[in-house]
Amino acid sequence: MSYEVRVCSSAAELREAVRPIWHYFGRSSPTDDQAERLGRILPVERAHGAWEGGRAIGGASALPFVLTVPGGRLRAAGVTAVGVLPTHRRRGVLRMLMRAQLDDCRRRGEPVAYLWATEDTIYGRFGYGIASVSGEIEIARERTAYHADPGGPFDAGLVGVEEAEVLVAPVYERVAAGTPGMFARTPAWWQARVLDDPDWRRAGGGQLQCVVVDLGHGPAAYALYRVNSGTDRGAPTGAIDVVEAMGDSPEATRAIWRYLLDIDWTARVKARLLPVDHPLFLLLAEPRRLRFAVRDGLWVRLVDVGAALSARSYAARDPVVFEVADEFCPWNAGRWRVGEKGAEQTGSEAEIRCDVTALGSVYLGGFTWSQLARALRVEERSPGAVARADGLFRTTIAPWCPEIF
Ligand SMILES: CC(C)(COP(=O)(O)OP(=O)(O)OC[C@H]1O[C@@H](n2cnc3c(N)ncnc32)[C@H](O)[C@@H]1OP(=O)(O)O)[C@@H](O)C(=O)NCCC(=O)NCCS
Repeated sequence: MSYEVRVCSSAAELREAVRPIWHYFGRSSPTDDQAERLGRILPVERAHGAWEGGRAIGGASALPFVLTVPGGRLRAAGVTAVGVLPTHRRRGVLRMLMRAQLDDCRRRGEPVAYLWATEDTIYGRFGYGIASVSGEIEIARERTAYHADPGGPFDAGLVGVEEAEVLVAPVYERVAAGTPGMFARTPAWWQARVLDDPDWRRAGGGQLQCVVVDLGHGPAAYALYRVNSGTDRGAPTGAIDVVEAMGDSPEATRAIWRYLLDIDWTARVKARLLPVDHPLFLLLAEPRRLRFAVRDGLWVRLVDVGAALSARSYAARDPVVFEVADEFCPWNAGRWRVGEKGAEQTGSEAEIRCDVTALGSVYLGGFTWSQLARALRVEERSPGAVARADGLFRTTIAPWCPEIF
């Protein structure tokens, strides 16, 4: 059986192309409301379908993002809604979709594609490397004292999600601009995704609440959260479920978390998708009580190695020559000299040999070359090259993406 893989040309086709992944959400297709909201953030021409007759048996989409990388920002494909119906699995449909999607990114001049993977075994074969680590916490409310100065009083105001965008978007933008892994949010993204609170998103929990903290000069931090209440013989058992919280300064971050950790009549505070270097570790007197659990976060694929590596900054002068293997996107294969001026192809001897997945892993600063070497994922051809590469790629902040897209 052969399938035609091509991009969608109408909203109706887009809705059809995401039906395969909706199957795995337990529904046969998006509702009218879901399809309408998806259409506001996903251009139809960024959705690929694998068509059999008029029906899509597989689909893969790419959100047109502007991604923060160390020292800059660049256009990147946020890969989403990837699914192949169980009736057609393991016949190479995903492979065809990945081929078409990465070729399309390259044509469009998007040097990077990245995603959240449902399973960590799927995307390595297409050149994606694990690029960040994401944390989850669940802390008993009575164990949340700060290690030192809890900070002075601050103004916190609850706002309706309908009015929140104008207050919280500038805070997000200040944080996103300096945090590798975060993407710039458009008004449509705020309205159709972040601040949209239909019943089906609540998963039985409370409404989406938005609090804004002002330290005297306008909004400096915000949190989106749900109160999931519960009691047992009169004592609270419920949790504050933090959807997203951030501040544009250390003081603002300290304040927003103090607010969240102090909400009465709850037993626990839960949050997921936190950066692995979250300040709470050092703010709290008992960081162990966070019960911080880690899992893989973003997976990054350099679609155009030269453009992607040239778009980020480097922390040292001395260049390193990498020999890159890339079976799925052979235009990237070869030797690259990477230094403060960016990346260029070279005929010089390779100092480090690696697969393109290794570049994805170090790109945002989530992993180091030494870590890859210790896991035998790269080969050091010249003594000291791994340490020099670490000096070059060093960053001061862990990559973070606060939402699964
Ligand atoms: C994951 C999924 C898209 C794979 O689609 P598929 O059409 O069956 O994949 P293909 O037949 O093209 O397989 C390509 C390769 O990936 C491997 N592969 C596919 N899915 C895999 C999985 N879940 N785990 C491990 N390997 C997998 C195949 O074995 C094949 O390997 P090969 O290249 O060595 O032959 C499909 O199973 C699916 O829709 N799963 C549920 C939804 C989901 O997880 N989507 C991903 C969202 S991030």
